[in-house]
Amino acid sequence: MNIIDIIEKKKNNLELSKEEIEFFVSNYTNGEVTDYQAAALIMAICINGMTQDEILDLTIAMANSGDVLDLKDISNHIVDKHSTGGVGDKITLIVMPIIASLGIPVAKMSGRGLGITGGTVDKLESIPGYNINLSIDEFKQNIKEIGISLMGQTLNLAPADKKIYALRDTIGCTNSIPLIASSIMSKKIASGADSIVLDVTCGKGAFMKNKEDAKKLSKMMSLIGKWADRETVCVLTNMDEPLGYSVGNTLEVIEAIDALKGNMAEDVKDVVQNLCVQMMNLSGKYPNILENKGKILEVIENGKAFEKFKELVSKQGGDVSYIEDPNKFEKAPIITPVLSEFEGYIEELDAEKVGKAGVELGIGRIHKEDSIDSRVGLIFNKKIGDEVKKGDILAYVHATSPEKAEKCIEQIKEAYKIGTKKISKKNIIEII
Ligand code: URA
Repeated sequence: MNIIDIIEKKKNNLELSKEEIEFFVSNYTNGEVTDYQAAALIMAICINGMTQDEILDLTIAMANSGDVLDLKDISNHIVDKHSTGGVGDKITLIVMPIIASLGIPVAKMSGRGLGITGGTVDKLESIPGYNINLSIDEFKQNIKEIGISLMGQTLNLAPADKKIYALRDTIGCTNSIPLIASSIMSKKIASGADSIVLDVTCGKGAFMKNKEDAKKLSKMMSLIGKWADRETVCVLTNMDEPLGYSVGNTLEVIEAIDALKGNMAEDVKDVVQNLCVQMMNLSGKYPNILENKGKILEVIENGKAFEKFKELVSKQGGDVSYIEDPNKFEKAPIITPVLSEFEGYIEELDAEKVGKAGVELGIGRIHKEDSIDSRVGLIFNKKIGDEVKKGDILAYVHATSPEKAEKCIEQIKEAYKIGTKKISKKNIIEII
């Protein structure tokens, strides 16, 4: 067997065998297959797709490409959460401390930004000192001691996904159902989840641009879950405009802190509540779905969720004084408003355009090895449905240079559509 034949086969839209998929995954993981060969195969998969059997084989090969965690000594039921990615998606930073403060153990491995979508690991790293690189023992110890650990894909867990994920980000192969489904589910299987709640984002700022594709992806991930004996629930959420009021790594950490103190933007609140309700239900500890929203509000109001976040940051080496006083976070040198040239109602705030502008500011990566700037980003004053007058501040751009700020202002003006209709937005599209 050799990689060139496998690339040719997929290029000709033929089905790969389990052995061929395993050959690619193990030889890319150990470096025998080069980045350019993997890029060719991934591009062929992206264009020609995969059959259900191929997707299952790819998921299992990626899950088995490294260690598979057994967390049974911590809990007999670990519930995990993952998002298919979005612009302004800081949901993990809010949901997981809430869940841990409700006594449900949280063991989560997160990723970096992909394409225009942000990544939890990049956000966590904007907290000075926060260590995303834990050993398996440290990871488990944290969960035993404080009920939560959030780390990067740094252990030897699904290393094939780590390589393929970084590669896809820089070769225009992020929005493929087989690649997203296998990427997410391989990580969840390898990191010891017993049941999984998936936030499947849908809209301009998501990989799935419409409901039909989001449903297809959801069904594929649920099928993999069923096959691997992991109960899986998909919550389809709206990603037409950025989620919440901020986009950017530090800025989103600050918004998450605000949210854990009870100040949540309406769309964030809707998504947080729906994901938490499903996770609580799957954990087996909170079977009464009708009571779950009340319990979530309780741990926010009594401060337990915020305290849990501080405990997490401190346990992973982060400087908690930044969480206690977010004014301490270093700011971008240029902070400048975007002013409205029209009056009316915001009919659109195109998350894809915002995401692209964000990558150019330095929130995300264009090349695999690019570094990012955690200070830069956007704060939105006006979102879909809001009334606006000429001269009102639509948003603030946080940039590193006047040139970057100027360019971003123009891009953000283009992302807004101001008209006469007051549009209302549905945040939760469907639960599958
Ligand atoms: N999140 C992942 O982990 N993988 C993807 O492919 C997309 C989002």
